[in-house]
Amino acid sequence: MSQPMDIDPGNADAPQSQSNGFQSRVPTGEEAVVMERSKVTAPLLHYIANFKSPYMNDVSCYEILKKVGQGTFGEVFKARCRTTGRKVALKRILLENELDGFPITALREVKMLQQLKHQHITELLDICSSRSANSKKGIAKFYLVFTFCDHDLAGLLSNKKMQLSLTHRKTLMKHLLTGLHQIHHSSILHRDMKAANILVTREGVLKLADFGLARPIFKVQNALFTNRVVTLWYRPPELLLGENQYGTAIDIWGAGCIMAELWTRTPIMQGNTEQKQLSLISNLCGSIVPEVWPDVVSLPYFDKFELPQNLKRKISERLGCIIQDVNAIDLIDRLMTLNPKKRGSAEEALDHTFFFTAPHPKEDVSDLMAGIHQSLFEYTERQGPHAERRKGERVQPHNGPRRVPNPPRQNTLANTDQFHDMIF
Ligand SMILES: Nc1ncnc2c1ncn2[C@@H]1O[C@H](COP(=O)(O)OP(=O)(O)O)[C@@H](O)[C@H]1O
Ligand SMILES: [Mg+2]
Repeated sequence: MSQPMDIDPGNADAPQSQSNGFQSRVPTGEEAVVMERSKVTAPLLHYIANFKSPYMNDVSCYEILKKVGQGTFGEVFKARCRTTGRKVALKRILLENELDGFPITALREVKMLQQLKHQHITELLDICSSRSANSKKGIAKFYLVFTFCDHDLAGLLSNKKMQLSLTHRKTLMKHLLTGLHQIHHSSILHRDMKAANILVTREGVLKLADFGLARPIFKVQNALFTNRVVTLWYRPPELLLGENQYGTAIDIWGAGCIMAELWTRTPIMQGNTEQKQLSLISNLCGSIVPEVWPDVVSLPYFDKFELPQNLKRKISERLGCIIQDVNAIDLIDRLMTLNPKKRGSAEEALDHTFFFTAPHPKEDVSDLMAGIHQSLFEYTERQGPHAERRKGERVQPHNGPRRVPNPPRQNTLANTDQFHDMIF
């Protein structure tokens, strides 16, 4: 099996120096090769190590107001800039091994965000550090500082009082696909599309967030990526079957799951093992067979999982009782195409009739936001259908060493637990 290309943080034995609260050191030869492969270049490391914010770079410049997120890798706080009063989100960067310095995966996230300035992508304002009394002597904590958004989509959908119209759904999907197109156009894969990673501002503008697993699309032929990415419930069949030469289609699948969730208000396929997830996908999208997806036979785990046979595709049948709009169903159907080569791009999705038939999408969903008087996040609203969300969280920390994918267990459908199937 090929090794995934994801990388560990730096080598603790390398010489270190302090600069501006960041640990700076010359990368080892081995690290330099890895950095080059992952596009985290020495000048970028140097830039981060010497980063001087024009107006603030110590976390004490912010007054922490409330915890709004507990991701897999750390906490996110709502905070206020003591000087300007501006509301921000502080995302703490978890240092798995503090001696390793600023984690290379966080550098990756910073680099992606710097490349991705766009109306529908979360805005990185600053990086700041702190030296708390509790932390080991001289070791800083690091935070990414973002423009604060009032809600995430998982939190919004958890709130039953919030009624979405077709116009709202069209507008949100248009924003989502526009942001995704921008990401893919910049040769980046998001790799963690899910409702909790989608923010909505109080002005009703959607922003794609959490670039902790994002990475550049390599132009190098035969470059291999780890397939242990994307939260299980939103993970496309090619990743579940071990593909490690995937592309933008993995994010498109997630967009399809999220679009359906705008109606179901809960993730549509909540498997708790890879085998179950594949079975749920087959139940909805039909059997995973070479007739609909010729290349599937060459995927590493095609023979290792039990793939249910003779199942018809039932997207319109099963979603039809919840989604009345035929164009919406048709678009979900396309986004959730089993064969990644036929799944289409974000740009193609934006051209779909769904967006060009009445009622038309609007500029934003500000009218929807006007009726919501408190911030709604997955973390704060973890009740009702979203209470169990953590089960589907992604499987590995982005700061730690990437694990080589475990070969799938030979589960049989007969011995698996009850399925979590939220539509039917
Ligand atoms: N800019 C922001 N404004 C408001 N809340 C945010 C912001 N960024 C993240 N959050 C909240 O924090 C949660 C975790 O942040 P995220 O970037 O997804 O980190 P993780 O990698 O730990 O999942 C998000 O699901 C969201 O609820
Ligand atoms: Mg997240």
